[in-house]
Amino acid sequence: MTATIEEQEAQAFAGEVMGFYRGAMITCMIDLGERTGLFDAAAHGPATSGELATRAGLHERYVREWLASLTTAGIFDYEASSRTFTLLPKALACLTGAHSMAPFSTLNTLLATYVDQIEQCFRDGGGVSYDMYRPVFTDVMDAFSRHGFDAGLVDGLVPAVPQLGDRLRAGARVADVGCGTGHASIVLAGAFPASQFIGYDIAGDAIDKGRAEAASLGLPNARFEVQDVAGLAAAGPFDVVFSFDSIHDQRDPAGVVRQIHEALAPDGIYVMVEARAQSAIEDNLANPVAPWLYAVSTLHCVPVSLAEGGAALGTAWGEQRARELLKESGFVHIETHPAPHDPLGMMIISRAGKAIS
Ligand SMILES: C[S@@+](CC[C@H](N)C(=O)[O-])C[C@H]1O[C@@H](n2cnc3c(N)ncnc32)[C@H](O)[C@@H]1O
Repeated sequence: MTATIEEQEAQAFAGEVMGFYRGAMITCMIDLGERTGLFDAAAHGPATSGELATRAGLHERYVREWLASLTTAGIFDYEASSRTFTLLPKALACLTGAHSMAPFSTLNTLLATYVDQIEQCFRDGGGVSYDMYRPVFTDVMDAFSRHGFDAGLVDGLVPAVPQLGDRLRAGARVADVGCGTGHASIVLAGAFPASQFIGYDIAGDAIDKGRAEAASLGLPNARFEVQDVAGLAAAGPFDVVFSFDSIHDQRDPAGVVRQIHEALAPDGIYVMVEARAQSAIEDNLANPVAPWLYAVSTLHCVPVSLAEGGAALGTAWGEQRARELLKESGFVHIETHPAPHDPLGMMIISRAGKAIS
């Protein structure tokens, strides 16, 4: 008997489901490769499992099984006669070096450990507080953002924002709202020594890391403060405010955007970077990253906001809602662009638009 259309579709979908599970497991393997230094060891050239284990200082049996997974996944090439494994050139480009995507895998493996707690939130409501994700989240977020900040802020984002470079060169007072470990401010402080950068975050462990990095680089113009940005206005005025991926998971995002507006000088510039998405689900159907964004949101961004009784905008709250929020808070000349430093990000540039008294 031939299968009905529905049965054929279900069989094909079973393959897709297996593909989701396969991807999740390969993500764990990539995370292990990143943590143990196996990708860097493999970058030195073809090796047997024993040679690779020696290079990385690891146990051969585990390395062999890991290699088998990543070879059958198309990440390594295997020469059976010599039993050597070679990291394929495309994998070398994507999983090693300064632009490696391997550190991103840790966000998946970290958030997977919260499934039990989030299941409880589905049933009982409420959320999981930011503190419950730390200290690991602090480092994961840093690993996620750091390379983009290094590679794309000074030569990418700054020239893409009208007047920003001139202001930073002349000397501006700049706030980085929800700065995490503050690497964006550190990179900018190094490039624009006449400007003062102050990173604010509610997380003490993240702020300690920002202070330590600024001290190790001898950057007197990068300061970091533990502060709830719901009270940012009192720390102003600022000539420029940045927020990198830090508005959507606030308890009161509208309140924070109003505070940013209040904290800005009359001709001040606000650069908001958020995940590149549209606000309506139906407009994200063709976005291949959307399922991942909504999943990260379910496992982190929504619960951290709901833990404080917040608005829970979600990671993919999208351009339209972001622009509305900016407009309602008094911002003008609002422009959206792809974020030059972040392939998954959008950059919304706006001006304080206040009368100069
Ligand atoms: C997704 S992380 C982004 C961190 C950093 N900007 C980056 O791009 O790597 C969001 C940050 O916002 C911070 N945050 C959340 N609510 C805050 C609040 N009310 N005041 C200050 N920081 C807050 C969190 O602690 C976290 O470090």
